[in-house]
Amino acid sequence: MEKIVIIGSNGQLGSDLKKILINEYKIITLEHSHFSIENEEIVYRKLKEILPKFVINTAAYHNLGLCEKYPQKAFLINSTAIKYLSDACNQIDATLVHFSTDYIFGGESNRNSPYNEDDIPNPIQIYGISKFAGEKILQLYCKKYYCLRVSGLYGKKGTQAKKYANFAEMMIKLGKDAEIKEERLPSVIDQVLTFNPTVEIAQVVKKLIKTNAYGLYHATCEGYSSRLEFSQELFKLMNIHVELFGVKSRYFNPTYEQPKFSALENRKLKKLGIKMPHWKSSLKKYLLLREN
Ligand SMILES: NC(=O)c1ccc[n+]([C@@H]2O[C@H](COP(=O)([O-])OP(=O)(O)OC[C@H]3O[C@@H](n4cnc5c(N)ncnc54)[C@H](OP(=O)(O)O)[C@@H]3O)[C@@H](O)[C@H]2O)c1
Repeated sequence: MEKIVIIGSNGQLGSDLKKILINEYKIITLEHSHFSIENEEIVYRKLKEILPKFVINTAAYHNLGLCEKYPQKAFLINSTAIKYLSDACNQIDATLVHFSTDYIFGGESNRNSPYNEDDIPNPIQIYGISKFAGEKILQLYCKKYYCLRVSGLYGKKGTQAKKYANFAEMMIKLGKDAEIKEERLPSVIDQVLTFNPTVEIAQVVKKLIKTNAYGLYHATCEGYSSRLEFSQELFKLMNIHVELFGVKSRYFNPTYEQPKFSALENRKLKKLGIKMPHWKSSLKKYLLLREN
């Protein structure tokens, strides 16, 4: 069996990748508590010791507020460490699978068509800038890589990086609380994107790594919604009877800018015959599996 290393295997995407790939590959998981991509020497030593065919890096510094506050850390994890991983993968002839974000785009308010892989990035906050730098490092230094730009991830495991596990789980919790208290809930109307269950991204990775078609890909479900529209669909499917009212992003006093529109078009994946479901059907599937 070919070996795959999963970095960040305790995260929401990492844990679903493990579940999806384990039948076909020997999986070696590297958890943050034992392994940090910030340490160049450890990255080299560990990967040379394991000699995997694929290294999947899900690690990132992706709390937007903390990225603004600690930009050095954001660049270390999201950019510099990608050089360490690229060099190590080149030396052992491994393929690096890495994840970037829709936030490498600026998402101006007058935009209403999804970005494809040829559109020019224009990140507007430290997180997006540091992830874009990571992409450039990968493209320039890594011999064999797949870079998947994903967005709005939610998975059963949830992320530790944010106050709530993810947007979907946060809205479920807030919705249930508001239902008991008979309150209305605010939700953002001026951020339009695509929300994706991590299991759908893991399925794409499984197909893509068999192609040898290295490079940069957009990988998100079909369609897009504002945060308000996503929450409305979520509440409908969960039978949560709470009225949502639309607010602008600034209502929550963020310390960073967020794109107004950052939906992505999977133009290159479609050319390979890899299709992703609509965000509404994947949300429905997630909610069914979530209970088990
Ligand atoms: N979440 C989203 O909505 C979203 C949107 C667009 C793109 N992405 C990208 O998708 C990827 C996966 O995101 P995710 O939501 O699955 O993240 P996640 O749940 O937070 O998982 C990241 C994992 O990496 C670990 N990690 C963090 N820093 C590390 C380091 N320096 N060295 C080694 N491991 C480290 C974390 O461990 P600890 O938790 O113990 O620190 C965690 O297990 C990231 O590249 C992210 O930028 C995410």
